[in-house]
Amino acid sequence: MKKIAVMTSGGDSPGMNACLRAVVRTGIYHGLEVYGIRRGYEGMIDGDFYKMESHDVSNIIQRGGTILKTARSIRFMEPEGRKRAFENLKSNAIEGFVAIGGDGTFRGATIFEKEYGITCVGVAGTIDNDLFGTDYTLGFDTAINTAIDCIDKIRDTAISHNRLFFVEVMGRDAGFIALSCGIAGGAEAIVIPETETNIENLISILQNGWQHQKSSAIVIVAEGDERGGAFEIAKLVKEKFDYYDTRVSVLGHIQRGGNPTVRDRILGSRLGMAAVEALVDGKKNVMAGLINDELVFTPFANATKHHMDINKQMLKLVEILAL
Ligand code: F6P
Repeated sequence: MKKIAVMTSGGDSPGMNACLRAVVRTGIYHGLEVYGIRRGYEGMIDGDFYKMESHDVSNIIQRGGTILKTARSIRFMEPEGRKRAFENLKSNAIEGFVAIGGDGTFRGATIFEKEYGITCVGVAGTIDNDLFGTDYTLGFDTAINTAIDCIDKIRDTAISHNRLFFVEVMGRDAGFIALSCGIAGGAEAIVIPETETNIENLISILQNGWQHQKSSAIVIVAEGDERGGAFEIAKLVKEKFDYYDTRVSVLGHIQRGGNPTVRDRILGSRLGMAAVEALVDGKKNVMAGLINDELVFTPFANATKHHMDINKQMLKLVEILAL
């Protein structure tokens, strides 16, 4: 393999730039030409790529977002889009690529390899931490630190006004952000898609707090909960329990931005290097991840299908610490 490409795809996550830097420099170290594809699969379809040199990735390790930009591509789901993408790669003699993204990105790469034989090694780049095959996805650590900073501030005002806050954090299908922030932010309860949400139970936790002289409370709600986001949960609770003056705060995309933490910079750098070396070694359709600090390659099919289990001890911890 002489020429490889790299792209970021799906929702951006802090640490993607650190990973891009590592991919480009590891590629150059191994004598490869590295092409940067802008806007993920969209750029692949439009032939929007350029040869990257070492200086193209200077001064980006500390920056959030992605210098290559990113997109969620509908066109790549169609055979015509993939055909155009293949023709663009072929005319540039690009044989493989590193994809930094989430499950949709890896599913697309799997079909593409089957149809056209272009190989891909993935790096799990998503704040949701919902991929099997790595303890942490790239951007998760920064996202939870950003969210906790907001939650601490919300607590100040919640205490001052004796209020109950429902704080919505990201996580379309996963409660990992909510769980970590629930523990670190001292929340009274968390509401996540992995467990059945029982409004009566939630009310009894809040009632218990009220009876034990808690003058304010915070409930962290993962946006993807089956009963709805923070506004819906707040409404259901308020209908039956109106002791508290209630407010809702949706943290939203603030969780996706910002300078990556040290942990995310190192994770991105390690996985970027590993992905390039795996491509050169002939690996394909696998995601590079770290489990117990050891490098692990997981087939895309497993990384995307086997949703990581939520840690039951951590769930119990939320319950105990809310007493
Ligand atoms: O996949 C990461 C994520 O931030 C989810 O938590 C969230 O539901 C989604 O992306 C939002 O995507 P978009 O920015 O495309 O609206």
